[in-house]
Amino acid sequence: MKKFKLGIVGATGAVGQEILKLLEKREFPASEIKLLASSRSAGTEVEALGGVHKIEETTPESFSDLDVAIFSAGSDNSVKFAHEAVKRDCVVIDNSSAFRMDTSVPLVVPEINAGDLEKHQGIIANPNCSSAIALMAIYPLHKRFGLKKFFASTYQAVSGAGAMGPISLDQEVTEMVTGAPVPNAMPSVFPHPIAFNLIPHVDQFREDGYTKEELKMRNEARKILSLPNLKVSCTCVRVPVYRAHSISINAEFSDPVNLPDAKKVLSSFNGLDFVEKVGENVYPMPIYTSEKENCQVGRLRVDHASDNGLAFWVTGDQLWKGAALNAIQIAEEMIRRNCLRKIF
Ligand SMILES: NC(=O)c1ccc[n+]([C@@H]2O[C@H](COP(=O)([O-])OP(=O)(O)OC[C@H]3O[C@@H](n4cnc5c(N)ncnc54)[C@H](OP(=O)(O)O)[C@@H]3O)[C@@H](O)[C@H]2O)c1
Repeated sequence: MKKFKLGIVGATGAVGQEILKLLEKREFPASEIKLLASSRSAGTEVEALGGVHKIEETTPESFSDLDVAIFSAGSDNSVKFAHEAVKRDCVVIDNSSAFRMDTSVPLVVPEINAGDLEKHQGIIANPNCSSAIALMAIYPLHKRFGLKKFFASTYQAVSGAGAMGPISLDQEVTEMVTGAPVPNAMPSVFPHPIAFNLIPHVDQFREDGYTKEELKMRNEARKILSLPNLKVSCTCVRVPVYRAHSISINAEFSDPVNLPDAKKVLSSFNGLDFVEKVGENVYPMPIYTSEKENCQVGRLRVDHASDNGLAFWVTGDQLWKGAALNAIQIAEEMIRRNCLRKIF
């Protein structure tokens, strides 16, 4: 089997670290791995994939000898380096929001729209974490009943804000529980206390009162499902959970809905587990979806407030299916389709 020279930009970050774990777990066919980050961590040694690797500073030349690079270093760095990589014949799989809505860039959840990978022109975008997890449950229902619109409320874990998110939560919990300030505490990454709190604010506010994160749910769903007029209203909330996002969804469909068919399509969808035992308190929860490749859906009901509506609850590890895992699955799918190379 052909092996690939792989770069990871943002290798020291929350997503980068999970990419390293998953490459090993999934036995990705890499002949060489280059770990890239900023000048701050250049020279640091990281143990991964059975060896010790030195972090290198990211420069345009970093990509000269690579086949593919997974970027997880924020939008500004994707804008700065992704085209430099493509110029050097290195395919980019980007975890940031920089290129997701670019019409020349496929935005892909492999279980849903893997065929879009074949149209790539060097850059492939990975969806926003909440969008990817929500769509894992919405898509099979859409295939069966025809999606018209959906309302979503997200419950987003602190690690969604990067490696500093869990540190902020830890510090605040310690201070609140012990009453003593934490020595050498780092500034919180959240605009309000997150310990024992809920913050209905993820990403920047727009003029219409929605946040950018909330609009990602609408815009990315439209692109991935090829439903350009899909109506979506979303409220994103940061919650004091370490890992795995949850989303409460009320979706309305064109065709009449029924629970047996809904359960059947959800249970048989690749990458999704239907987790529901009414009467036994069994339903999806973030602590049980952390470090799981599959997302979980449950609390399935006919929606009392809409015609042909279903209400359900989906959880998924946003560091995995919302970022690292989906990016690796994109690379694996491109290998299967023989399109993991620059196509112009
Ligand atoms: N966290 C999630 O759940 C999640 C989910 C989906 C998508 N994403 C996206 O993934 C990206 C990374 O998120 P994260 O949560 O992993 O953030 P993070 O923990 O804050 O890590 C950021 C990474 O970017 C690197 N970086 C910063 N400046 C750089 C530069 N000038 N050149 C090269 N590398 C640089 C950092 O390296 P240093 O150590 O050298 O600073 C670090 O490795 C973001 O675009 C985010 O939106 C995150």
